Amino acid sequence: MEQIKPPHKYIILSYGCQGNISDSEQMAAKLLQAGYEQVYQLENADLIILNTCCVRESAEQKIYGKIGELKKLKQLNPDLIIGITGCLAQKDKENLFRKAPHIDFVTGTFVVHQILAHIQQVLETRERVLAVQELTDDFNHVIPVAADGQVSAWVPIMYGCNNFCTYCIVPYVRGRERSRAQNDIIRDIQVLVQKGVKEVTLLGQNVNSYGKDRQDDIDFADLLNSTDEIEGIERIRYMTSHPRDMNAEVIEAIRSGKKLCEHFHLPIQSGSDTILKEMNRGYTTDYYRRLIDEVRQKLPHASVTTDIIVGFPGETAGLFEETLDFINEMRFDAAYTFVYSPRSGTPAAQMPNQVPLAERKERLQQLMNLQNQISLAINETFTGKNLEVLVEGPSKNDAAYWTGRTRTNKIVIWKKGDQEEPGQLLNVKIDKAQTWLLKGQLCI
Ligand code: SAH
Ligand code: SF4
Ligand code: F3S
Repeated sequence: MEQIKPPHKYIILSYGCQGNISDSEQMAAKLLQAGYEQVYQLENADLIILNTCCVRESAEQKIYGKIGELKKLKQLNPDLIIGITGCLAQKDKENLFRKAPHIDFVTGTFVVHQILAHIQQVLETRERVLAVQELTDDFNHVIPVAADGQVSAWVPIMYGCNNFCTYCIVPYVRGRERSRAQNDIIRDIQVLVQKGVKEVTLLGQNVNSYGKDRQDDIDFADLLNSTDEIEGIERIRYMTSHPRDMNAEVIEAIRSGKKLCEHFHLPIQSGSDTILKEMNRGYTTDYYRRLIDEVRQKLPHASVTTDIIVGFPGETAGLFEETLDFINEMRFDAAYTFVYSPRSGTPAAQMPNQVPLAERKERLQQLMNLQNQISLAINETFTGKNLEVLVEGPSKNDAAYWTGRTRTNKIVIWKKGDQEEPGQLLNVKIDKAQTWLLKGQLCI
């Protein structure tokens, strides 16, 4: 039998949330360990992995478009191996082969760490490999990943979600909540510190549920308190927390901690109690208001950000107004806003009174306009102030400028001087505020 050349130049494209990016890093680490080399152009790769998302239809469409484009590359190079991994793989399984026969393997969210075995199987059998299953494993495969000189790193602390918000596909493609052992998480952070990392973000779909599935009686606040004591790390963040499970212990950990950053990302999703109930979010606007009051009372300088979905089924113009009013009242530093996207298999997709797409888009625009004004007004209060930033490196758009973040997760850019290096903590005097960033001058 004619041998296929084993691939050695890989590229991974990530399409999803931080959890997805972290999985991509884990796959890349396995490939590098096995002697693969990373390339940056699809044309130069002989292994292409698309690590995918299916949280909204737009994400799916984009990925299917990309998969279509890969067909030409496969025709030019029959030895090219193409793998689809992650959430869309978990959801669409063998249908992916039917829609795109040029795909070689499909690897679901539970087994991305077994990627080398799937590639090997393709090479040995020269057949398509479908690796989509639900495993409960011990997470020994998770490794701390940071490249040389990397300032910030992701550390997965748990996988899956038990919440079943009625619009959301994540619990179906990521399975039930599984938390890693505290010791493993701490050891990972210590390894990252030795590699020069200054900031870690603890990752999970609902980090406040950390530990509930374990026997060792360590909850999220305990975990935060222990990570705060790790020497050498400057900043600790986490994503994402569910407002229902946020509690006084976590707020207190952040207040008293030295490294825990004063940024609260608490997705509200809607400002209407009727819609929140239909979404199965498990809190009311009144609860949320009291939660934010407590945060702002204990940490007056903390930033608060959120996620909002517009056009959920049954959202009338009046109920949408309630969201606008609530946004006005809460004054979030920033909000990530989304048009509701029906996901088949979720309860909301079956609900009556789906809102027409044109209406949903119109509401998104209205909401964004409002939030942009609020974000800008808040950012303007920082002009003239000195803010401490953790230096990340050259800004993407213009290398003459460098970028960093405040503890409150505000992006700051400044004209590069002679001294800056990624990982330093420096002060920048803000002279211009924009909706999504602050501009300033380095204080020397
Ligand atoms: N577990 C996290 C984030 C999950 S996905 C959390 O609960 O906060 C990130 C965001 O995508 C969600 O907060 C929600 O605002 C949005 N989202 C999820 N499903 C969606 C859907 N079907 N349509 C539109 N937006 C959605
Ligand atoms: Fe989806 Fe809700 Fe779980 Fe977040 S908490 S991942 S929105 S089901
Ligand atoms: Fe997307 Fe999966 Fe994350 S659906 S948002 S990549 S958990």
